[in-house]
Amino acid sequence: MTNKLKYFIGNWKMFGDFSSFKIVHKINQFSHKLKNKHKIKIILCVPNTLIYFFRKKLKTKYISLGVQNCHSQQDYGPFTGAISSLMLKKAGAEYIILGHSENRAEGESNQLIKKKILSSLKQKLNIIFCIGETFNEKKAGKTFSILKKQIRNSLAKNFNVNKILFAYEPVWSIGTNKIPKIEELEKIIKFIKNEIKKNYKVKKDVKVLYGGSVNSNNIRLFSFIPQIDGFLIGGASQSSKKFIDIMKNYYK
Ligand code: 13P
Repeated sequence: MTNKLKYFIGNWKMFGDFSSFKIVHKINQFSHKLKNKHKIKIILCVPNTLIYFFRKKLKTKYISLGVQNCHSQQDYGPFTGAISSLMLKKAGAEYIILGHSENRAEGESNQLIKKKILSSLKQKLNIIFCIGETFNEKKAGKTFSILKKQIRNSLAKNFNVNKILFAYEPVWSIGTNKIPKIEELEKIIKFIKNEIKKNYKVKKDVKVLYGGSVNSNNIRLFSFIPQIDGFLIGGASQSSKKFIDIMKNYYK
């Protein structure tokens, strides 16, 4: 088993209330135990309504907390119902997911995501930037060109990519129980790392995560791809048992 740092990130999506703190608490306790044995970083990205509450309630923090999107505008402004990166930072977020396909499906363009990335970088938030092709794009052999476009059109040359974790999330794999073939996934992860290294100023390694139907059964398969730096987990992160079982099985 590798001794490289691995990320296990939960994306709760539209889930949870104050009583869900028990899930956070259990994962936090587990993280404490696991950290002695492995280089691991656990992050839970929760709804905006819960970030401040969880932050205050977690007395000893072995995990990090994040959110799932923000408005593109800096600071404050006349945008009814919207929340800026500044407000999320003040509420206790350390990480932010941007460019998720569920938001792209509602109309987010690469240009809009670029503004959100810039505003989050200004707030010194760590970014989890999601990219991935749809099923039709995959069928048409466009995976690599789509990924390239999503990266180039959302990241300016002068962005600090060292604050960004890349999450490869094929849209056809999210919530479907379908996962990419291991050899394909390996190639795609390498491609993303090369794209970033070639075009941006990278200080350390480029971190690329995989997301899409990750569960405690298929995690073993992914553990054979050393290039994957971690996982972005949706449905299974809404249960402490499922999320913890994924990590246990990864290190088995
Ligand atoms: P699932 O793990 O539910 O497929 O969701 C993945 C995802 O969208 C994480 O951002």
